[in-house]
Amino acid sequence: METKKSRIGVYPGSFDPLTNGHLDIIIRASGLFDTLIVGVLRNDAKKTLFSMEERVELIAKCTNDIANVKVEMFEGLLVDFVKEKKAGTIVRGLRAVSDYEYELQMAMMNKHISPDIETIFLMTDINNSFLSSSMIKDVAVHGGNIRGLVPDAIVEDIYRKVKKI
Ligand code: PNS
Repeated sequence: METKKSRIGVYPGSFDPLTNGHLDIIIRASGLFDTLIVGVLRNDAKKTLFSMEERVELIAKCTNDIANVKVEMFEGLLVDFVKEKKAGTIVRGLRAVSDYEYELQMAMMNKHISPDIETIFLMTDINNSFLSSSMIKDVAVHGGNIRGLVPDAIVEDIYRKVKKI
């Protein structure tokens, strides 16, 4: 008897914090897999505005209505996390040509380490193509308007956080 393979995808990133660009990729990628795991990198060497737990919580808050999306943290090699989760595909978003070199290098390195794991790219929606977590933090720190750039549910969390620094 043939068993149907469950397709699991991993969308990895720092998500410091989640932007509307990330959320758009999550929504679209969730339609391509039985389960989409948003993998949030724990990297103690990299200084982040939001703690690991906070980043996971912000994403969960914005995705809890999408039944097949799970948010989990990972550390170490991405491909090891992908294998541990029995996933076969890494999903990344591409905004502009400037993202391409870094993304290509990363996809090739992951392919070199783990030839069975594929990376697929979704083009960021044109309206989100200028968004980055670092610019959003910068705008928020200086009191600018971040509404429409990040999900409504986390706008106040971001303002509250930047006020503390
Ligand atoms: O949102 P980001 O910071 O662009 O995401 C980068 C991320 C987390 C996907 C990348 O840094 C990563 O996979 N780190 C885990 C370490 C790893 O696997 N390195 C080898 C491949 S580059």
